[in-house]
Amino acid sequence: MYNSFDSPGLVKVLTFLQTHNTEYLSGQDLSDVLRISRVAIWKHIKKIQELGYTVESKQKLGYKLISNSDLLLPWEITSGLKTEVIGQQAYYFDSIESTQIQALKMIKDENKNGAIIVAAEQTGGKGRIGRKWISPKGGLWFSIILYPKFDISITTLFPIASALALSIAIEKTFEIKPELKWPNDLTIKGKKIAGMLVDVSLESNKIESLVLGTGINFDVNVKEIEKTLKKIPNFYGLASLSEQKKKIKPIELIQSFLIELEKIYKSLENRQTGKIISEWTKRSATIGKIVELNTINGKIKGKATRIDNDGALVVSENKKNHRVIAGDIMHLSK
Ligand code: BTN
Repeated sequence: MYNSFDSPGLVKVLTFLQTHNTEYLSGQDLSDVLRISRVAIWKHIKKIQELGYTVESKQKLGYKLISNSDLLLPWEITSGLKTEVIGQQAYYFDSIESTQIQALKMIKDENKNGAIIVAAEQTGGKGRIGRKWISPKGGLWFSIILYPKFDISITTLFPIASALALSIAIEKTFEIKPELKWPNDLTIKGKKIAGMLVDVSLESNKIESLVLGTGINFDVNVKEIEKTLKKIPNFYGLASLSEQKKKIKPIELIQSFLIELEKIYKSLENRQTGKIISEWTKRSATIGKIVELNTINGKIKGKATRIDNDGALVVSENKKNHRVIAGDIMHLSK
């Protein structure tokens, strides 16, 4: 595991190499400028290379950074990130059971507000409604810890608002407009590119903490994953962002999402839900469709007409309106 704050020496050396990547820097110069011993400089450079950065080393000339690492390393996430809280602490795992489980273990520590836990792969990824979430290398799998100040009634709107934030971030980076499938799926041409999961812990009617888990099919083998998912009820197909024309670095998308999420999170704390609902509705693939929902109270089939202030979907069936807070939805009409 690596985090964004435990390796200040390594980050100093790396940042210096990144900002002076047109020239060779001698070990002695690095040592003088950064006030780190030459032995430590050498150790940091070795580690930087191990982490997937290409650093050329030439006798008599010194070191030069040729290319960055493809890993979602924590200091790359926090570096230059224009947020106040969300994403200002980052943790990275090469392989973990589930970032959601890891985040839930960490929530007791109040210093973790806004922390993001990222994994290159998950061996036991969790999806909504107790489903598995297949998370091979190439996807973006992460969880964010929050201690919100908003009212409990807003909790159910939070996942919907987060899906909106991700759709805005994808639009800003990839220049495509994903659609939103209630409650919190993102789709492109009707296929799922991302999903979200929220674990809430309450204490005497107050929200103590939230963990927002986000899974983005960034560069995954869709065919391979679909083989496993085909048997799941209501499975409607997958898509990968790598199929898009525009090529974006994963870090760019994550940072853009963290910025959009923080904006929306602040609006929720200020009870400005109207704008979120109208923006979500504009991007929604669900509103106006004939849908079928499996809820704990049985099946509902009707027209999805709107979402309420708390994110509940209103479905009208034979002139009767049903409010659905949670459930599994299938779009029956195009
Ligand atoms: C869904 O079912 O649509 C929600 C999927 C959420 C998956 C993400 S991946 C990162 C985080 N860790 C998990 O185990 N699940 C969430």
